[in-house]
Amino acid sequence: KKTENQMLVIFGASGDLTARKLIPAIFNLYKGNDLPENFVVLGVSRSDLGDLKFRSKVVLESPYLEKERKEFDADYIQKFADKLFYEDLGSDYDTSYERLEKRISDLDQKYGTAGNHMFYLSTPPSLYEPIAKNLSDQGLNDESTGWRRIIVEKPFGYSLESAKELNNGLHTYFKEGQIFRIDHYLGKETVQNLLVTRFANSIFEPLWNRNYIHHVEITNAESVGVEKRGGYYDKSGALRDMFQSHLLQIVALIVMEPPLSADAEEIRNEKLKALKSLKVMNDEKTLYENTIRAQYVSSKIDGQEVQGYREEEGVDKNSTTETFAAVKFFVDNWRWADVPFYVRTAKRMPTKVTEVVIHFKTPHHQIFKESGISNKDNKLIIRIQPDEGILLKFGVKVPGQGFEVERANMDFYYSSLTETHVMEAYERLLLDAMQGDATLYARADEVEAAWAFVDPILNYWENGEEVKMYGYAAGVWGPENANELFEGEGEWRNPSE
Ligand code: BG6
Repeated sequence: KKTENQMLVIFGASGDLTARKLIPAIFNLYKGNDLPENFVVLGVSRSDLGDLKFRSKVVLESPYLEKERKEFDADYIQKFADKLFYEDLGSDYDTSYERLEKRISDLDQKYGTAGNHMFYLSTPPSLYEPIAKNLSDQGLNDESTGWRRIIVEKPFGYSLESAKELNNGLHTYFKEGQIFRIDHYLGKETVQNLLVTRFANSIFEPLWNRNYIHHVEITNAESVGVEKRGGYYDKSGALRDMFQSHLLQIVALIVMEPPLSADAEEIRNEKLKALKSLKVMNDEKTLYENTIRAQYVSSKIDGQEVQGYREEEGVDKNSTTETFAAVKFFVDNWRWADVPFYVRTAKRMPTKVTEVVIHFKTPHHQIFKESGISNKDNKLIIRIQPDEGILLKFGVKVPGQGFEVERANMDFYYSSLTETHVMEAYERLLLDAMQGDATLYARADEVEAAWAFVDPILNYWENGEEVKMYGYAAGVWGPENANELFEGEGEWRNPSE
């Protein structure tokens, strides 16, 4: 695919994401010769920086490019830094747009970026609409002299209603085809590999339905707490922060029907159908029985005292925001009727891991009863991170007399593909957007469908009568009663065990 000459304008350029993720991703593209010949980055934010200070901050003195500065010679690094420019936008992101427009057009002419502008909004979501409006007022959404695209970060909305408002707001100034909603999980190789595993093989898809699958389990665990983001997180919580976006995107890829082709719209149409088929839980009894929320409380990890969630900086002392969320739900369609899905996500778990486990049904007729093990299901474990790969567990005969069955593993690890450069999520996603490929970006209707499923759970957790908030010691696999969701039909698989 061709990457046309272009300019990337980053709003929120003095923020953490720019230095930590975006600039290193662009550096990787530079290193891999994936940038177009004419390419500049214009950082925009409220800080008073200037081109040189910006280059120092995000490249020449950035802790996130330390390794690269050792690996490559100074000229090579400087050549990269010289592609970066900076414009300060005053204190409220609401003035100085004329000046910004002028800077963009000067840079465009000087560096030959062909009128193609990508606006990356790495700002609080409350600024998305005002920025879009201001860009539009300056004619910067007009595609008559080059393409104009806008990338927005999550969280995309706070609820179904606010997501709709946000979509309507953005659609006032930009067409859907110009808007790229980033979900960095879609940039992960292993998440994309869900599509390939399912639709490039003939051995899994025939089994991928209610006739053979007993249940599906997804675990997303992080060992860190809320770090320095207490203020943001306390207004968000695990369900909004991870489940509504990243995890429901994974669910959509597991649940969707085969798309007609790998075309962006075909894939997104099928994902939308999948998200719409999640059975919305509306009554309190169902919500009570199928959802669990909890907060981590202080404990000792490896002899070190670790703060509880309510003691974290920026968090309300009486906070009822969850740091653990587990939901059991069903998918109301022909393929998945009656197959339970169990999804959990949490901070301060024993380790950082994300995996999907497809639990197959036991054989209908047991002939090797005595060993017991054949009564357990076959599992396909898709490890999203770390140790990215796939593991299939199945029964084999133990050598010797009789028919004893033991569990064997067949596995594939991405790390065995040592020759290949595995792109980081942001690198892949940025390059896709630069090429106009929206396959790995969430469409407006998808995001709204995900919120439509999550909204009743949030409402129940916020206003329900009998809703409980459990506690779990920082560093364990969530509250003790989390297995109750399975009602005796299994339990969570804790990946390190
Ligand atoms: C972000 C969440 O979207 O994803 C964070 O806001 C979370 O709270 C992060 O830590 C996890 O991403 P990853 O790629 O480290 O699994």
